[in-house]
Amino acid sequence: MMILSASFLSSLLLLAAAKPMGRRAMTVHESRAEPARGFVKSSVAPASKELTLRISLKQNDMAGLEKALYEVSDPASALYGQHLTPQEVAAFVKPTAETLSAVSSWLSENDISSTAVTPFGDMLEIKIPVSQANDLLSAEFAVFTHVESGSTSVRTLEYSIPVGLGDHINFFHPTLSFTRPMAPSVSAFRPLPSKKVVATEAAPVADAVPASCANTVTPACLQAFYNIPTTPATTSTRLGVSGFILQWANQLDLQQFLRSLRTDIPSSTTFTLQTLDGGVNTQTRSQAGVEANLDIQYTIGVATNVPVTFISVGENGSDGLDGFLDIITTLINEPASQRPSVLSTSYGFDESDLTRPVANNLCNAYMQLGALGTSLIFSSGDGGVSGSQSKSCTNFIPTLPSDCPFVTSVGSTGGITEVGSSFSSGGFSNYFGIPSYQSADVASYLAAIGSTNSGRFNRTGRAFPDVAAQGESFEIAWNAQFGLVDGTSASAPTFASIIALINDQLVAAGKPVLGFLNPFLYSSAGRAAFNDITSGTNPGCNTNGFSARAGWDPVTGLGTPDFVKLKAAVGL
Ligand SMILES: *[C@@H]1O[C@H](CO)[C@@H](O)[C@H](O)[C@H]1NC(C)=O
Ligand SMILES: *[C@@H]1O[C@H](CO)[C@@H](O)[C@H](O)[C@H]1NC(C)=O
Repeated sequence: MMILSASFLSSLLLLAAAKPMGRRAMTVHESRAEPARGFVKSSVAPASKELTLRISLKQNDMAGLEKALYEVSDPASALYGQHLTPQEVAAFVKPTAETLSAVSSWLSENDISSTAVTPFGDMLEIKIPVSQANDLLSAEFAVFTHVESGSTSVRTLEYSIPVGLGDHINFFHPTLSFTRPMAPSVSAFRPLPSKKVVATEAAPVADAVPASCANTVTPACLQAFYNIPTTPATTSTRLGVSGFILQWANQLDLQQFLRSLRTDIPSSTTFTLQTLDGGVNTQTRSQAGVEANLDIQYTIGVATNVPVTFISVGENGSDGLDGFLDIITTLINEPASQRPSVLSTSYGFDESDLTRPVANNLCNAYMQLGALGTSLIFSSGDGGVSGSQSKSCTNFIPTLPSDCPFVTSVGSTGGITEVGSSFSSGGFSNYFGIPSYQSADVASYLAAIGSTNSGRFNRTGRAFPDVAAQGESFEIAWNAQFGLVDGTSASAPTFASIIALINDQLVAAGKPVLGFLNPFLYSSAGRAAFNDITSGTNPGCNTNGFSARAGWDPVTGLGTPDFVKLKAAVGL
């Protein structure tokens, strides 16, 4: 597999062939009238500033890959569980020879060399100064400022490509997509000053949720809520945790957490570190990330003995979005024995910040990794119907990547009798159409709410979240103290841990891992493994948002998982 991708790479290394030709006729490929909400143009971009541009090439047959993905992910299909090999995925994703040669000739004419940055060669990267980029693309790259944060980025509101290349090129990036500083979907840390560092928690009592779980959620609470076993996993199936924006997971905080809240497992239990794009995992305790600590403590602390990899994505050569693609690329390139069977990610964007082609391409990368058998779990966001963060809005703001149809989006609940959390993002995509696995559920929901919020959301879009899990008042250790945090950031690793434990038992029984989950989750067997959550709303944009109801809803999805029922549903 590594050999395969290396050969794609070398065939795509386009070296400059100095062969000046007349300038080709150009045609506008993409344009937008205004920068994304919250950004202003502040100056022209310095002519000599080097830009790293990515060129997304038309893939061979994404519709074919989608069909193949559903065939292996739908429990009703004869091919269920027969995940694809990288070679099989490559055949769908690899651009055609015509596409490769059309694009390489154009770049060569302009003395530009490129490197493939995805495993199957559908994304090239070039590094050229602003002046050359303006010339190559008939563009006007400028500096844009994100007003709220002051962060700047170089973008253009329009660019052109030669006539005829539109059949071969999806988009150049970054051009029209605006990425604001990314926020993890977690609240501020609220210290618990009186908390002792020694073990205080009783062992979990099956079937009874301790009353304290109404105010403080611990691994023992989650075991009680969702019937999660404490017995250690026995296979090497991995759980990956994504780390972005300089969020570091601290080993000593993890030890402190385990000593207090998982006294039944060795406090030396830890994670494996993997880095890309210059990522690091600094261990200065005061620099620990709340998000990273939460994600690590509630995977290692819930998915007992499942090997956990913390994947720290740095920001080298990245504008925030590139790292999202690079982590997927890295996992696709790994041998199957090392690749996590579940990846939990608690970060996201507002869908409208990205252009449709860019969003589509990222979602297609999830399709590839899903086809290889990895379950992709994303937090749904913490701004209710207003997206990843609270802000003024009229129309509801869906969140990416959570609303990509090939990932599983996790909303939040709280309370002993679980209620949808008011911050739990949910709604409907404007970019992705409704996938068939959820169309009947969504139709029922829409019929039930009538004209509520009419005009503020897209009734034909992919609906999210798919499921929910507790996400309020999670106790974590951070910077040597205990405290509480809230967010769908807590829900995602909780749900991911449950899937990782199910995968462990499947592998132990000689069966394939679950892979892309949604067709199973929405099947009659799958949905029976969820506690339907029927109350709670997710306000935002000066509305009450959506309401949870019987059946699927855009606050809590199908509901919260029950491990014992999930085991039965997968035939264990
Ligand atoms: C990332 O950038 C830093 C600072 O420029 C540099 O020291 C480091 O080598 C880079 N890492 C990678 C993997 O490119
Ligand atoms: C609504 O969603 C559909 C399906 O993805 C999409 O084609 C359409 O453009 C969306 N409408 C708007 C106004 O965004």
